[in-house]
Amino acid sequence: MTQPLIDPFQRPISYLRVSVTDRCDFRCVYCMSENMTFLPKKDLLTLEELDRMCSSFVRLGVEKLRITGGEPLVRRDIMTFFRAMTRHLDAGALKELTLTTNGSQLGRFADDLYDAGVRRVNVSLDTLDEKKFADITRWGRLPQVIKGIDAAQKAGLRVKINAVALKGFNEDELFSITEWCAERDMDLTWIEVMPMGDIGNEDRLDQYWKLDDLRARLAERYTLTDLPERTGGPARYVRLEETGQKTGFITPLTHNFCESCNRVRLTCTGELFMCLGQEDNADLRVALRNFPEDDSPLEDAIRAAIALKPKGHDFDYSRQKVDGRVSRHMSHTGG
Ligand code: GTP
Ligand code: 5AD
Ligand code: SF4
Repeated sequence: MTQPLIDPFQRPISYLRVSVTDRCDFRCVYCMSENMTFLPKKDLLTLEELDRMCSSFVRLGVEKLRITGGEPLVRRDIMTFFRAMTRHLDAGALKELTLTTNGSQLGRFADDLYDAGVRRVNVSLDTLDEKKFADITRWGRLPQVIKGIDAAQKAGLRVKINAVALKGFNEDELFSITEWCAERDMDLTWIEVMPMGDIGNEDRLDQYWKLDDLRARLAERYTLTDLPERTGGPARYVRLEETGQKTGFITPLTHNFCESCNRVRLTCTGELFMCLGQEDNADLRVALRNFPEDDSPLEDAIRAAIALKPKGHDFDYSRQKVDGRVSRHMSHTGG
């Protein structure tokens, strides 16, 4: 039996997030600057290399695989990769194969995703106002995303909406977004904005809307019951008794969840980030490419990287300034 992956703080690592491209068809203002330079395509791991990487993690005990980007569905032939991962679901080694997407390409791919064994997708959506949507994503069109969500639900995929809580931007939509999700039988998770990457003129402190405050506002209209359940992600959930719907809170700033962290992140060039909020990473591509016929050097490199996983992030806005910033954009590691 192989030893499971355990980090220095005794946390078992069972969740791998894989960013398959740093590119995206949107330019969300809190995530990217308008003029991004993307990686040359030749630097990307091939789909076969991504398969070898993920399969090695699965052999070492990873049970949940989330595909991210950039926008994962803009990577050419990405369905070939999803279909290849189906074998780990069929073998029972992988419990969940899923993705986080901006929804723009779900109209094209929802059925194929379902056929590959995906049962749940998280769609990032911060507003239901077409004009605001165009502003915040710079390049996105809301009707296309709604069509994508329709296609996903029709295909049988469960959809969870991720909304970044942004002061002065979607505060006034708290109830309309909540009700829209309830009507469509979708769960909703709010995320505190994190200081990741240079995004031009936007100021993180101006954008930051504390989820303690958001939760208090929700409680003015609904009865909130804390739920013990976990999806393996960092969200803590409540049920809104009046609608029966689940609402999650991801609170890297107000309530740290790092003590139960179970995940690491692989980028499209084969770097492994052991924490979203730290700069340290390990290059797994060397072990992968130098030993094309033998996965044991790669497995050794993975174990060595996990042994360096830090305790947590240092994001902090409490001193009226942004502390713990990391230089890379969210699109580099996929959230
Ligand atoms: P579920 O499987 O539905 O629980 O999803 P998830 O929350 O694991 O994945 P998702 O991609 O929806 O994550 C939502 C967001 O939570 C990410 O984009 C990040 O912004 C944030 N997040 C996820 N993991 C971490 C983490 O380890 N640290 C921090 N600071 N934020 C995280
Ligand atoms: N802080 C918090 N969430 C962010 N996302 C992108 N950038 C940030 C940030 N700086 C979210 C997206 C998407 C997920 C991948 O990460 O909205 O839901
Ligand atoms: Fe693209 Fe997602 Fe970043 Fe928006 S948040 S620019 S959709 S990667």
